[in-house]
Amino acid sequence: MSKIATLEIDGKKYEFPILIGSENEATIDISTLRSVTGGVTTFDPGFKNTSSCESKITFLDGEKGILRYRGYAIEELAEKSDFLEVSYLLIFGELPTTAQKQQFHKDIQKTALVDEDVKKILDGFPKSAHPMGVLSALTSALTAFNPKSVNVDSEGDMYRAVCKILGKFQVLVAWTYRKEEGLPLAYGHNSLGFVENFLKMMYESPIEDYKVNPLVVEALDKLLILHADHEQNCSTSTVRVVGSAHTGLFASLSAGISALWGPLHGGANQAVIEMLEAIKEDGGDYQKYIDKAKDKNDPFRLMGFGHRVYKNFDPRAVIIKETAERVLNDLKVNDPVLDIARNLAEIALNDEYFKSRNLYPNVDFYSGIIYRAIGIPVPMFTVMFALGRLPGWIAQWKEMRLNKEAISRPRQLYTGETLRPFVEESKR
Ligand code: SDX
Repeated sequence: MSKIATLEIDGKKYEFPILIGSENEATIDISTLRSVTGGVTTFDPGFKNTSSCESKITFLDGEKGILRYRGYAIEELAEKSDFLEVSYLLIFGELPTTAQKQQFHKDIQKTALVDEDVKKILDGFPKSAHPMGVLSALTSALTAFNPKSVNVDSEGDMYRAVCKILGKFQVLVAWTYRKEEGLPLAYGHNSLGFVENFLKMMYESPIEDYKVNPLVVEALDKLLILHADHEQNCSTSTVRVVGSAHTGLFASLSAGISALWGPLHGGANQAVIEMLEAIKEDGGDYQKYIDKAKDKNDPFRLMGFGHRVYKNFDPRAVIIKETAERVLNDLKVNDPVLDIARNLAEIALNDEYFKSRNLYPNVDFYSGIIYRAIGIPVPMFTVMFALGRLPGWIAQWKEMRLNKEAISRPRQLYTGETLRPFVEESKR
């Protein structure tokens, strides 16, 4: 691959360096384009062809279905690691030693109590509030209780902020769930592992001892690993853009939660189950929904299908599908929706419309089946995605700030009115 790209405009040639990544991906550095051409910019709605930053955190190859965190294959991490360790890996760049992992967990536990006044904010929400809206608000509210913004240039300050948000976020998630269920808020216990403790906070009852189910812990831990990061997706890009204004970490994460909420993004996991339930109610009329998804006049999309980057199977969907089958079998849960998902995927994957557009099941297609099997209600599905994605958002925010990236401020192609004189009201 040449190291120079040449652009010709009105007979004048402009040269731009071609940068090559560690996986031999090429990108044209056009950071001088506007100044050398007297104002010309590139046009790329949805940033489908635009690299917004340089990053060392996650690599994915959409054509080959490859996903790696800090160089480690997602398949290996899902099988051999755990969510706490993967969080450390994403944020600090290396797998922790046993001592580092134990200290990390202790430091997270130290901060895992949330100011009791947060309950007053939580009480202000109606039970009908969507948990993603509650979580985004509570995350932003953490700034009120931790006003000192993190000094990214201090390793110690950054480490303490990381532990604080990893400790408190899981409490906010559990309290959001318990508020919706009308349950008393719970605190977990430091004698438990990271995921066990979260499950205790979610499900413990004040009138009986909570028993940790290792099958549920294993399933949730794997799901959290699979959701932990995914390079410059919509919500991660949002966290980086908001953080580029030197907005604090908690407020940047709150913005990421709102972006993830969208049904085209993390909100798809809730929309998938609702779609599968609708097909079940319709007596398994798969073709009706396949036809709706193909109908250009119908805004309906096959939720959980397609991906901006993966033009092959989403490697996470492959692992989640296998895990869903094992978890339902181990927990002796018979969920007809899994059969509907399998049948729907089989029909779609053999349909020319989906094949010609490289539309495959993505991370959201099967994840809801596991969430439901382990007792998580549908409105909480995207909150679980946010819990998994938290370390990725933190890692990406930290990288962007340490790289001292400029404030994100894209340009536009203006096609509105040219200059015109003001019109007095009497003449309009
Ligand atoms: C996530 O980016 C990430 O990494 C995200 C994520 C992460 O980990 O952060 O992986 C998590 O968000 C996964 C995606 C979850 N969303 C869904 O499952 C919603 C359904 N999927 C689509 O809305 C869509 O596939 C997107 C949003 C995921 C991707 O959309 P793109 O890349 O903008 O593609 P597009 O909308 O331009 O579609 C290309 C064509 C179009 O048809 P034509 O105009 O060429 O005829 O494919 C069609 C689309 O209509 N198409 C679909 C479809 N997805 C795309 N048609 C029916 N059903 C679908 N699901």
